[in-house]
Amino acid sequence: MHFHPRTGSVQQTVIGHTARVFARGIVMPNPTPTEPILTAKDVRLRRAELVRNTQGTGFTPLMTIKLTRDTTPQIIDGAVEEGVVAAKGFPDIIEIVKSYGGWESRFVVPDETFGRMEEVGLPFSWHCELPPDAGEKLGIPFTQREVECLALTEAAIYSRFPRLRIIVEHLSTAEAVRWVGNKLGETVEVNGVALPRVAGTLAIPHLFLTIDDVGGAKLHPHLFCKPTPRFYEDLSSIRAAAVSGLPCWSLGTDSAPWTRWRKECPEGNAGLFSAPVALPALAGLFEQAGRLDRLEDFVAKFGADFYGLPYNEGKITLVKDPEQPMKVRREYGGIVPYLAGEFLPWRIAGTTSN
Ligand code: DOR
Ligand code: ZN
Repeated sequence: MHFHPRTGSVQQTVIGHTARVFARGIVMPNPTPTEPILTAKDVRLRRAELVRNTQGTGFTPLMTIKLTRDTTPQIIDGAVEEGVVAAKGFPDIIEIVKSYGGWESRFVVPDETFGRMEEVGLPFSWHCELPPDAGEKLGIPFTQREVECLALTEAAIYSRFPRLRIIVEHLSTAEAVRWVGNKLGETVEVNGVALPRVAGTLAIPHLFLTIDDVGGAKLHPHLFCKPTPRFYEDLSSIRAAAVSGLPCWSLGTDSAPWTRWRKECPEGNAGLFSAPVALPALAGLFEQAGRLDRLEDFVAKFGADFYGLPYNEGKITLVKDPEQPMKVRREYGGIVPYLAGEFLPWRIAGTTSN
């Protein structure tokens, strides 16, 4: 489960909503407002803060590092020793440069670094979108950046590093669903165990929203995230993937809190704070599809299978009780959650410890 726990006071406000319910979570390495998690040393620092703020909950933060042009094979080795579960790439690991009079997009992370990840079995967690300057330089609008980036990923990474495991995060398009789905069944052996080569996470915004919700009538800054939710065809294809029962799809809540003043401003930040409502909302979605039986695999098992982790032993109980619905708070310490102020028929009735 991919999420953004932040640091400092925002972390203190939000972390309980993840740690009280989920036994573990994959910590994205962009802990605003501090510097990104780039090395083993950063991992230690940020993990210590998370452990402090989740004391008594039994929560395990699964750490990652952020890839940059300066990530060396030695940094990968150090991070693996520190126990990271993935190296994350954001769109800023692609640069668009002049070439033969035109423009070309390419990865800035050194090949040796991807090569070392491949050797040591460290997955590439991938926010697969071309960077914003793809608009001006290549004429590619933001709605096409994921698909174009997949083509580059296929050529530059997937084809060239056959043992590198890739988890495409928060898919937003039907094309991306097809790309990942077509690779189902391919495996790579890591320490004698065959693990999936490619998988995808599906995040709350792309399971519930389209671009119309974000800006079709008025601008809804609290529904804005990256990748930006797309079109109806994309939404239905992502929903179908989630309830398909196929092991390549797992939940990445992508809970990404921002304080109100960082959302409701001229350059509002991308991200939905979904942790408090993720499971009740998903239960409703799976129920509608007549597939509640597949919810647990999607939330708790298929992601663990990708990472080769044991399943959690604790259980989360969800109940549907329209008489006693979950009332979503309007704010949590200045952070507006997804579905703020709404009533949800499903709620978390309890958890047993991990
Ligand atoms: O919407 C998003 N929010 N997308 C990202 O890639 C980053 C995340 C964040 O950190 O807020
Ligand atoms: Zn994310």
